[in-house]
Amino acid sequence: MSVIVKNLVLKFGDATAIDNLNMEIGDGEFAVILGPSGSGKTSFLRCLAGLLNYDSGEIEINGKSMNGVYPSDRNVAMVFQNYALYPHMTIYDNIALNLRMKGLEKSVIDMKVNDVSKVLGIDQLLKRRPREISGGQAQRVGLARAMVRDPAVYLMDEPLSNLDAKFREEMREELKRFHKITGKTIVYVTHDQTEAMSLADRIVVMDQGRKIQEGSPKTLYDNPEHAFVAGFVGTPPMNIFRMGTSGESGNFYELEEAESGTSFGIELSGKKDSRKILAGIRPSDLTLDPEGQLELILESTEFLGPTLNSYVRIGTSRISVAVPRTQHNEELLMNGKPGSKLRFRIAPDRIYLFDESSGERLSVSVRDVRTLPKKATEIPVE
Ligand SMILES: Nc1ncnc2c1ncn2[C@@H]1O[C@H](COP(=O)(O)OP(=O)(O)OP(=O)(O)O)[C@@H](O)[C@H]1O
Ligand SMILES: [Mg+2]
Repeated sequence: MSVIVKNLVLKFGDATAIDNLNMEIGDGEFAVILGPSGSGKTSFLRCLAGLLNYDSGEIEINGKSMNGVYPSDRNVAMVFQNYALYPHMTIYDNIALNLRMKGLEKSVIDMKVNDVSKVLGIDQLLKRRPREISGGQAQRVGLARAMVRDPAVYLMDEPLSNLDAKFREEMREELKRFHKITGKTIVYVTHDQTEAMSLADRIVVMDQGRKIQEGSPKTLYDNPEHAFVAGFVGTPPMNIFRMGTSGESGNFYELEEAESGTSFGIELSGKKDSRKILAGIRPSDLTLDPEGQLELILESTEFLGPTLNSYVRIGTSRISVAVPRTQHNEELLMNGKPGSKLRFRIAPDRIYLFDESSGERLSVSVRDVRTLPKKATEIPVE
């Protein structure tokens, strides 16, 4: 069933938790709402479930307005961020509760509860009570309670956040399988971009109650329309530099730094009016190359198996780079002394540009990149 949200506004006193949100989630879509803590994700799900009264706007589920419809009449199953299990009931009864209320036969309930518990690895816990299980287990019980139901829409609020890394990956696969089998609409909330990328048909990125951009994981990664999305989607995160222009020409920008030292500059293909812009470089777009344009200083390297993640510096700016593990790269980055100079290449067309004040993507492209020996005030203006 589809979910349509029009001009949704939710306020807590003076603070706006949801700021004119518009969204269309198609029937059978796996939509992931991605945003940092406090961006309004839980509030949004609670509005969809009918647990919060919003100030204005409209929510439609399956073409029907939900304004004034009770939570129990909305036919949604929600997985709560804080689990919300009934402490006096066994795990079995917590999972079975909604099925009993629907009047299903005991044998059917038994089958459903047992099946989902096996899939989620909680079948050994059914006789216990919530206080006798771990946080990760409680989270899976919350998930099970929703998964046994047959609602129009599943609403899931960070359902995997408390699981360890390996188990989380397994559960992601289970959720994808579950989605494929049921074909149901899922609205899934997370602050974890890796989770969003791996699960979503479509990601909606939120910040401070506003929708910043929506699109497929690939679109958001390849074409972030906003510096916030660029910095949020992708791991390690994109390096974002503040660049200022000093010359009259308006097409040469230099790294802004508090202290003097080596810097770098970019030449744009066209003139820009803004005095300051943001330049974004993905860590994986920097490659070690003795002929590269950028001279960077090695700080440290993390060994991650197939990838080496290094921190390097230019002036006082820290840059993260991610290079494949090869003997050559390992020699330079793992065995290289901190403080040693390394040259990196960046293809100018891999640099993303954003307006500093609005954060919006600029249409102009980069023509050239070069290391600058001195501060901008001292280099000759072109
Ligand atoms: N009942 C409430 N009263 C007042 N303010 C609230 C209430 N619930 C949430 N807020 C505020 O609304 C904003 C959005 O909160 P919300 O819980 O929706 O964020 P979130 O994106 O789910 O964050 P997290 O990732 O930490 O769960 C926050 O600034 C929060 O402090
Ligand atoms: Mg939340």
